[in-house]
Amino acid sequence: MRKFLALAALLITSIAAINFSACNSNKTEPVANNKEDSLKKVLERGEYLAVHVAACVHCHSKRDFSKFSGPVIPGSEGGGGSSFDQRFGLPGIIYGRNITPDQETGIGSWTDADILRAVTQGISKNGDTLFPLMPYANFNHMAKEDLLDIIAYIRTLKPIKNKVPPRQLMVPIAMVYPGPALQKNIDGNVRPPATDPLKYGAYLTTFADCGTCHSPLTPKGPDLSRMYAGGYTFNEGTFKVNSANITPDSATGIGTWTEERFLNKFTPYREEKNYNFNPGTQNTMMPLSELAGMKDEDLKAIYAYLHSLNPISNKVEKYPK
Ligand code: HEC
Ligand code: HEC
Repeated sequence: MRKFLALAALLITSIAAINFSACNSNKTEPVANNKEDSLKKVLERGEYLAVHVAACVHCHSKRDFSKFSGPVIPGSEGGGGSSFDQRFGLPGIIYGRNITPDQETGIGSWTDADILRAVTQGISKNGDTLFPLMPYANFNHMAKEDLLDIIAYIRTLKPIKNKVPPRQLMVPIAMVYPGPALQKNIDGNVRPPATDPLKYGAYLTTFADCGTCHSPLTPKGPDLSRMYAGGYTFNEGTFKVNSANITPDSATGIGTWTEERFLNKFTPYREEKNYNFNPGTQNTMMPLSELAGMKDEDLKAIYAYLHSLNPISNKVEKYPK
């Protein structure tokens, strides 16, 4: 909330500066406009990343699986409470936490540094280690300015009062947490230029954590040594789906897919009517209604990156019996 107030104050200062300049010289006007513009840019980029790329909002909200791809239930954005458990091969029940600016049940009292530490190091404000389902190992590689934009945006979410229950694990957290190796400082992280599709595609693919869902699920968790080979089983109850092989293997992956076909996996879901139906057992866990909001160039960069990987042969049945 403090930061939100700071943002509001910044806006008010900018408006005041405009008024001030209107009745004096117009020297201060460009400064005021720049400030407003840059705040607008921060929030736009933050929203783009938090909703459409990093899917923070999708994991930290409730999803409606009576519709295709389980879009976020409007009004639940950031409030947490959806559960991840044995249905997804996890050793217990882990809940998406409340990341709205609510003071008591959300992260309203956290500083930017507190949030950055949780998001990139997996350590909550109270020192508790977070379960790595929260993709902090990925976010640890992202540019600080992108993460700060995300934080600025999530501070503008509507505060939701929702006390999320603590996770219940069947194994000690130390068994699933790789420990100090992750404690890398993120200050030196750089975002590759969008003009370098391979590198920028790798960056976006890491940000979106396409890899975990698209790794084969084993009794010890996702086999990250075969990342993108598919075969993670999600048993949602009303449907059971395996993630696809998205390596460039021609027979079992997306080796024969054109860029256009790849874009077509996403772009139809920019329109609500295309996911606003109940597909029954032919549903997907992939958050398509949100990922569809990625820009065409960004999807093309992801396609270029995936096609640069080593093909892995792994035949996956999308809808297992
Ligand atoms: C794949 C789902 C997933 C994604 C994507 C995800 N999170 Fe999380 N996040 C979680 C879960 C689950 C927890 C709680 C882990 C636990 O209980 O150990 C969590 C915990 C957190 C916490 C700690 C809250 C607390 O009270 O300790 C913050 C802050 C957070 N996430 C912010 C984010 C942000 C910002 C993003 C996007 C950049 C993001 N998350 C993306 C699932 C996710
Ligand atoms: C929450 C888990 C999850 C995430 C995150 C996820 N996917 Fe998927 N994906 C799936 C599942 C499950 C399927 C199979 C059902 C379907 O086609 O939607 C799938 C299917 C696909 C397919 C279709 C392949 C085929 O053979 O039909 C492509 C392409 C794909 N994913 C790419 C991606 C990319 C790129 C990302 C990251 C931007 C991503 N996925 C993120 C779960 C996920």
